[in-house]
Amino acid sequence: MLKNIVLVGLMGAGKSSVARYLGAKLHKDVVSTDASIEEKKGKPIPAIFEEEGETAFRKLEKDVVVRLAQREGIIIDCGGGVVTDPDNIDELQRKGVLFYISATPEFLYQNTKHQTHRPLLADSNPLEKIRTLLKDREEAYQRADYTLKTTGLTVEQIGEEIIKLLRAK
Ligand code: S3P
Repeated sequence: MLKNIVLVGLMGAGKSSVARYLGAKLHKDVVSTDASIEEKKGKPIPAIFEEEGETAFRKLEKDVVVRLAQREGIIIDCGGGVVTDPDNIDELQRKGVLFYISATPEFLYQNTKHQTHRPLLADSNPLEKIRTLLKDREEAYQRADYTLKTTGLTVEQIGEEIIKLLRAK
């Protein structure tokens, strides 16, 4: 079986850029849970959060994860909160190798502070919010097969590290 490459980690870690890099380098399809949800609902993530709430979003996310996790040989770019449901991790691990793209709160904050498409960071103190999310989720992220400390690394460096780890497996 051709395993999937699954990227998890908090918002702003660079999962999408790394996923695109790997897709181009390894000639594999890249899919994103967020994009799949938006496609299915025909509206952007902030509108889903606003009109239907986070619980409804998590339900849609779970459906998408179950569907994407059945595929083989693809790269799956997961929304930052995918790991909050342990079943999602189990699903993704059946046919995939999980990489936790980890970074410091300060780095994540720098990468997200000028962006407006993340409802969870529309907070009066986004850095503090990032710290809280990280603390709450760290254990779940650590269930990944590999944890990569990526603060200060380029997309290419992270991508190449993943390729190296996969080849050494
Ligand atoms: C979320 C992360 C977002 C998106 C949604 C919720 C989270 O994805 O799924 O805004 O709970 O961390 P990215 O990690 O791709 O920004």
